[in-house]
Amino acid sequence: MEKKLVVAIDGPAGAGKSTAAQLAAKKLGYTYIDTGAMYRAVAWLTLQQGKPVSDALILSVLPGIDVDLCYSDGKTTVSVNGTDITKEIRTPEVSKIVSQVARLGPVREKMVELQRKMAARGGVLMDGRDIATAVLPNADVKIFLTASIEERAKRRWKEMQEKGYAMSLEALQKDIAARDKADMEREISPLRQAEDAILLDTTGLSIDEVVDRILALCA
Ligand code: DC
Repeated sequence: MEKKLVVAIDGPAGAGKSTAAQLAAKKLGYTYIDTGAMYRAVAWLTLQQGKPVSDALILSVLPGIDVDLCYSDGKTTVSVNGTDITKEIRTPEVSKIVSQVARLGPVREKMVELQRKMAARGGVLMDGRDIATAVLPNADVKIFLTASIEERAKRRWKEMQEKGYAMSLEALQKDIAARDKADMEREISPLRQAEDAILLDTTGLSIDEVVDRILALCA
């Protein structure tokens, strides 16, 4: 039987990681793990408290949170404490506070432990910001997926339009740039390309072309 690989994909917001990784996982018959969705789930539960967001509020929801990712038929479902919040975690409100959530040590410790458990059986494609550098440093394949900020903003803008959120392209580009900066400059596990990761610049590539390149790297 072919060896079931552990594939780590990191990169900035809007690089096309989740769309491409999800499709590549389906073709490989692997499980796709969207680690950003896990940080978003913590952010969502924090907002549900209806109080001003602070580090203390974020940490207060952590002990009682049960985040579950279910990947089937090429799609991921995210639940918190049994409630399906797959759609709710993609709102601009969640995106706005998620970097603040993701920079807290106790949040990362809890999520990373879960992520390592999910990857333990192999045959997984995991995407995030620190997968190759911190979560799965022994991954078989490490890919750093990126694209120009203009292209990443355009892709997110199209996605948001399709979901019915009205946001200007300029505002979205600013948001993404701010999130990248926060993710790259945080103290714990900042976003950076692992030394042994392969750089895949998706600027100007179609989703199918990105998927083909990922599959070629896993062959
Ligand atoms: O991939 P995404 O946009 O859904 O990620 C949401 C946020 O979570 C992003 O701003 C950075 C953070 N994140 C992280 O710190 N580590 C990961 N492994 C994945 C995401």
